[in-house]
Amino acid sequence: MGDDKRLARTVDAGIGYGPRRVDGDLANLEDSWKAKAWDYSDQITVGARVGQTRQKGKFDDLVGLFHDRFQKLSKIIKNQTGQHPSGTIKEIKNRWTDYTRAPACILGIVMEVRRTKTGGRLLELEDISDTMKVFIRADDPAAGSILQDDVIAVQGTFSKEDGEMFWVNSVHYPDILSSMNKGGSSFDPISIAFVSDLHYGSKYFKQKEWDKMITYLNSSAETAQNIKYLVLAGDCVDGIGIYPGHEKNLAITDVYKQYSDFAAMLDKLPDHITPIMSPGNHDAVRPAEPQPMLEADIQQDYSNTVHTGNPGRVNLSGIDLLTYHGKSLDDMIPMMSHVTYENPIEGMKEMLRKRHLAPAWGLRNALSPEEEDQMVIVDRPDIFVTGHTHAHGVEWWRGIPLIVSSTFQGLTDFMQMMGTKPKIGYLTVYNIQNRQTRILSFSEGE
Ligand SMILES: [Fe+2]
Ligand SMILES: [Fe+2]
Repeated sequence: MGDDKRLARTVDAGIGYGPRRVDGDLANLEDSWKAKAWDYSDQITVGARVGQTRQKGKFDDLVGLFHDRFQKLSKIIKNQTGQHPSGTIKEIKNRWTDYTRAPACILGIVMEVRRTKTGGRLLELEDISDTMKVFIRADDPAAGSILQDDVIAVQGTFSKEDGEMFWVNSVHYPDILSSMNKGGSSFDPISIAFVSDLHYGSKYFKQKEWDKMITYLNSSAETAQNIKYLVLAGDCVDGIGIYPGHEKNLAITDVYKQYSDFAAMLDKLPDHITPIMSPGNHDAVRPAEPQPMLEADIQQDYSNTVHTGNPGRVNLSGIDLLTYHGKSLDDMIPMMSHVTYENPIEGMKEMLRKRHLAPAWGLRNALSPEEEDQMVIVDRPDIFVTGHTHAHGVEWWRGIPLIVSSTFQGLTDFMQMMGTKPKIGYLTVYNIQNRQTRILSFSEGE
């Protein structure tokens, strides 16, 4: 790896290699790292713009949004899981005696979730025709992950006594089927690097670590020269007025200066790396998701950067990237015991399972009623990245690398209060040809 070892420490066992998937048609997997990114042209296609509508959040807008979510997700459920509803909820309720032995399949959106004394879940499901109560047993794996507003199909039977109680045998999410992501010998031997949550402008921004990374990226290190794109998944600047008392944690109190200084910092990247930048909850766009891309007068400072909204969908050299800052994890973490700030990858799996980046409406994460629900994951991505938690990790799941990008902000009062420690200064590098990951650490004390 040449200069890789001198300028940056690699991490853990596996000597700097994260999880890998072997591509059988490549003679020597290591060769994919040796290519020089400048020998390959940029191929960038930015997906549909998000967060562009100016709907006011009237009741009708909300109804339209949920209708669109239901349509999109029920189509995926039908096509992918093979679950077809036995009728509308109204029809099924009318014929309940038919379904005391033979199972019925009900497709609906979860209006309410209540935990029962035995640890099961009592759900109120709704479709356009009616609502009904269904009971999920405590030992069903879905019991710990169902949230209000999820779209699901359930298979089960009515109790023989009356048509009031429906016992669920199986729960079906829209889900992601297991299949290998795109990559391999027909793709350019280049890599995509990931960071987020720089929080430039904060007193806690780690300038030394950042500078060390920039020096490394300009070096002759094998991995550095292989990087073609740098994905910045939100919170690049710290913003202003994001929470009460924010000013006292700021080194730069003018948000436009934060952005223009940061643009100058990105100019120090070598020419062969193109930054792909999307907003997060600290950025100067509306907080409600989907968030539009940064406004034009901020973008004009950025000479060579591709801007997207949040979530963002970008095709990079044939690889379909889904980037989402990850604010909805703030809502998932208190409601799901297996999702934590240290291990947000479990939350990313839930997003893919539910095919929705922010399933629950009206909690801490604000959502905007667009004409269509742009938080639905309609197509499966080849890479899925989130930031926001200031954690770090990579895990393959159902043929997709899930990346939690690292931060360049130190421990803040908020994180101290939450009892979590940031994982600072890691650069995750994923080679799209051999599907290997290298993780580089620029952190001082680690
Ligand atoms: Fe952040
Ligand atoms: Fe954030």
